[in-house]
Amino acid sequence: MRIISVINQKGGCGKTTTAINLSACLSKRKRRVLLIDLDPQGHASIGLNLNPEILPHGMTEVLTHGAFLDDVICASVRHNLDVAPANITLSAIEQLLAGAAHKESRLLTAIEKLRRPYDYIIIDSPPNLGILTFNALRASALSIVPVDMGFFSLHGLGKLKETIEVIARHTGHRIELRALSTMVDSRMRFVQEVLKDLARHFEGKVFETRIRNNVRLREASSQGMPIVEYEANSNGAQDYEAVAQELIAMEEARGQKVSELQVPVGERVETALGGEPWS
Ligand SMILES: Nc1ncnc2c1ncn2[C@@H]1O[C@H](COP(=O)(O)OP(=O)(O)OP(=O)(O)O)[C@@H](O)[C@H]1O
Ligand SMILES: [Mg+2]
Repeated sequence: MRIISVINQKGGCGKTTTAINLSACLSKRKRRVLLIDLDPQGHASIGLNLNPEILPHGMTEVLTHGAFLDDVICASVRHNLDVAPANITLSAIEQLLAGAAHKESRLLTAIEKLRRPYDYIIIDSPPNLGILTFNALRASALSIVPVDMGFFSLHGLGKLKETIEVIARHTGHRIELRALSTMVDSRMRFVQEVLKDLARHFEGKVFETRIRNNVRLREASSQGMPIVEYEANSNGAQDYEAVAQELIAMEEARGQKVSELQVPVGERVETALGGEPWS
């Protein structure tokens, strides 16, 4: 099982679009995928036509009351694709977990107890570096960082790297980071500059595939469908298919079998961070 989070505290850079469409493309390639929605906005759930506001349970119950992930999962949302939904109640998580023990590793603990078998778990995260993002990072072996091609896109990436260093220092858990350029319109003059800066920031760890600007991706989400289902011939579908292929090839090249359990359980020093993960 390979656990991958999609992280960037910058809003609107393509996290949810990436989480949904990468999940769909992996499941299309016969991988069993669980998409965990860890954003109170619930966009990953809504983008797959779920209505998280009327579902009885979701990620809030998993993180706060120790509910089993298996019990909140919406199974077979698509063939080989399950979703653990989130809704607005997750926005109270900082207060709900104030003073609680092990609050930064609740997702990891829930994943360790998972009974259903998956090849990939993909985690969508909110646009901030709070407790939800921390849980996503703590649970994952790889973090994909979507970076859109705007002027402010690279701003804040230093803080993200710092956060990852904090986790490594306190728990020994090392996360691999890989950037994914999104909303790329190569006709725009500054795009080549942003791409160069991006490669420098991530020391070359950038997906070769670039997600082009494609209005079909917006339409697909609004229709509650992955792009491969909404319009399989679109640039968006081709790009996300290529990212899935690149990801699988990357792991095969490293000789990793995705069916091997890779939950980072090596160092469970959850209490090392004390009550405040950012201290
Ligand atoms: N490659 C693309 N081309 C065109 N539009 C895109 C592309 N990727 C994402 N979008 C659109 O941009 C908007 C923001 O994307 P998305 O919701 O995936 O970002 P996000 O990082 O998850 O946002 P948030 O930080 O609010 O969670 C959405 O309307 C989405 O449909
Ligand atoms: Mg989102």
